Amino acid sequence: MGNSSIKKILITGGAGFIGSHVVRRFVENYKEYQIFNLDALTYAGNLENLKDIEYNDNYTFIKGDITDEGFLTKLFVEKRFDGVIHLAAESHVDRSISDPLSFVKTNVIGTVNLLNQSVKLAKENPSFRFYHVSTDEVYGALGETGFFTETTAYSPNSPYSASKASSDHFVRAYGETYGLPFVVSNCSNNYGPNHFPEKLIPLFINNIINNKPLPVYGDGNYTRDWLYVKDHARAIDLIFHQGKNGETYNIGGFNEWKNIDLVKLLCGLMDKKLGRKENSSQELITFVKDRPGHDLRYAIDASKINRELGWKPSVTFEEGLEITIDWYFDNQDWLDHVTSGDYKDYYKKQYQ
Ligand code: NAD
Ligand code: DAU
Repeated sequence: MGNSSIKKILITGGAGFIGSHVVRRFVENYKEYQIFNLDALTYAGNLENLKDIEYNDNYTFIKGDITDEGFLTKLFVEKRFDGVIHLAAESHVDRSISDPLSFVKTNVIGTVNLLNQSVKLAKENPSFRFYHVSTDEVYGALGETGFFTETTAYSPNSPYSASKASSDHFVRAYGETYGLPFVVSNCSNNYGPNHFPEKLIPLFINNIINNKPLPVYGDGNYTRDWLYVKDHARAIDLIFHQGKNGETYNIGGFNEWKNIDLVKLLCGLMDKKLGRKENSSQELITFVKDRPGHDLRYAIDASKINRELGWKPSVTFEEGLEITIDWYFDNQDWLDHVTSGDYKDYYKKQYQ
């Protein structure tokens, strides 16, 4: 797909964590495109994430819900997008355990709604492409060794990962059944600026700043593969422009950490930044009841995207964590704003 054939790009979920980095990258790097950011602004969506680019000529925000079929039909007829990069989702595993249905609604029904509209546009526009941004959690859990590859069988364990696996299957099925040109990527755990403070890294940064307990699930011996969010946004850009139709690309950081080791690293870095006594933040670590169905280990083999598209992570974990911690220090207003709504009620129920 040549760049010149793409003019109007719809990015869904652009007010969220990863979406905001993708929107900014596209708005800044592709002045010849019109970038439309469609987001329902749920508890996880925040337009403050994009305030530096909101007045750019090639950027338009549209508030709307991907589960609203009538709204999507009108939008697609009116705008006739040349491509869709779909990130809008319910994204937090713990929330999916307490409210699975909202994950089915947004992640499955919302995705199918977008696919139905996309099929119509693809019929008239051979260069149309639907890109589904998905997760490594669809592959289930690894033991102590091994990696997820693009051919690993799907085996989701949480309502969140089941909903993402389902939406991946729908995307592929629309490719086979209706000839929709698509690409899918399955990425490991992201971290970085704008990450909502319900997820491990930003929650713990926030709690360390405020001297609150750090709730480590189970024994903390769970492993995740962490990737700096801007490296994910760069991979999405490459796959959207150069990925092969009908293909899946795994994206990961080659950066596995057991939760407990990561939390100790974070405590050490934060102690230095806050001028606290060495090891003092570690005293905040509190082992709490485990997450039901907690996947032991995720690890991505990202050799395909490296080999075919030349992508590899550019930011080391140490650099990425430094940038991230500094960002949270410098953006206390952002933290206050995002934690003052629905989020507080949710955590009242979970932890009090
Ligand atoms: P996020 O929760 O920060 O953002 C999701 C965005 O989607 C929010 O802006 C929200 O308002 C919007 N949204 C939710 N429901 C919507 C609806 N019905 N209609 C329109 N907009 C809606 O999520 P994130 O962490 O940025 O993840 C983005 C995507 O990347 C998701 O599809 C997720 O599954 C995938 N992913 C995330 C990670 C990660 O580590 N965070 C890793 C791999 C893949
Ligand atoms: O792997 C990609 C996935 O990574 C994405 O698809 C999801 O959208 C994203 O939320 C993330 O899922 P995880 O469940 O891995 O992320 P989370 O930050 O919730 O948890 C990371 C690990 O830390 C996990 O093993 C659970 C643990 N944890 C998490 C929280 C919030 C704790 O021990 N304590 C906590 O308070």
